[in-house]
Amino acid sequence: MSSRSCSSGRRRPLLFAVSLLVGLLCPQSFVTVSAAAEQETAKTKLEEQMDEIGGAWRKVRRQVADAASNVETAALVATMKRAAEKAATLEPLRLRDVEEAEREPWLEAYRNEMKAFVGMLGRLETALKEGRNADAEKLVAQIGAHQRASHKDFKRPDEK
Ligand code: HEM
Repeated sequence: MSSRSCSSGRRRPLLFAVSLLVGLLCPQSFVTVSAAAEQETAKTKLEEQMDEIGGAWRKVRRQVADAASNVETAALVATMKRAAEKAATLEPLRLRDVEEAEREPWLEAYRNEMKAFVGMLGRLETALKEGRNADAEKLVAQIGAHQRASHKDFKRPDEK
């Protein structure tokens, strides 16, 4: 047996005793840390819908001016609209930071903004189907501004 494995063998009981002591002194620490780690890694259902919206949105912005892509762009917008309709049925994480008495009106405001978003997407889809690309470009700018305002109001400030 090498001297290195011998010395690590001697350290193990000490490590065990220290972990036991920490666990006994603050048993909550393990539970809290693992719950926080889970929250950090797992996506919320709303984040999943937002990721879908974000992926399609990148392409929509890139090709909105190109009339030859209108059929494809309109389909991307329809995908965004479906995801936004689903998102309107979900609750943002930030709701947990709102005072209990304020939660209902806060959630109502969130749903209204999401419905306004769905409405804009509907107008964008129609403009693309009708070949009105200049109107579509204006709507894309409006939707971008609406996204920024909505994120400011409904996303947790420490999130992107
Ligand atoms: C073009 C429009 C939009 C785009 C591209 C977009 C994109 C995104 C992205 C990429 C995220 C991060 C998702 C993640 O962390 O995995 C996000 C989060 C979020 N977005 Fe949007 N978004 C848009 C419009 C909106 C609107 C209109 C609202 C509200 C009415 C909204 C509310 C939120 C909220 C609350 C979160 C945080 C997720 C949570 O609390 O679980 N977004 N969005």
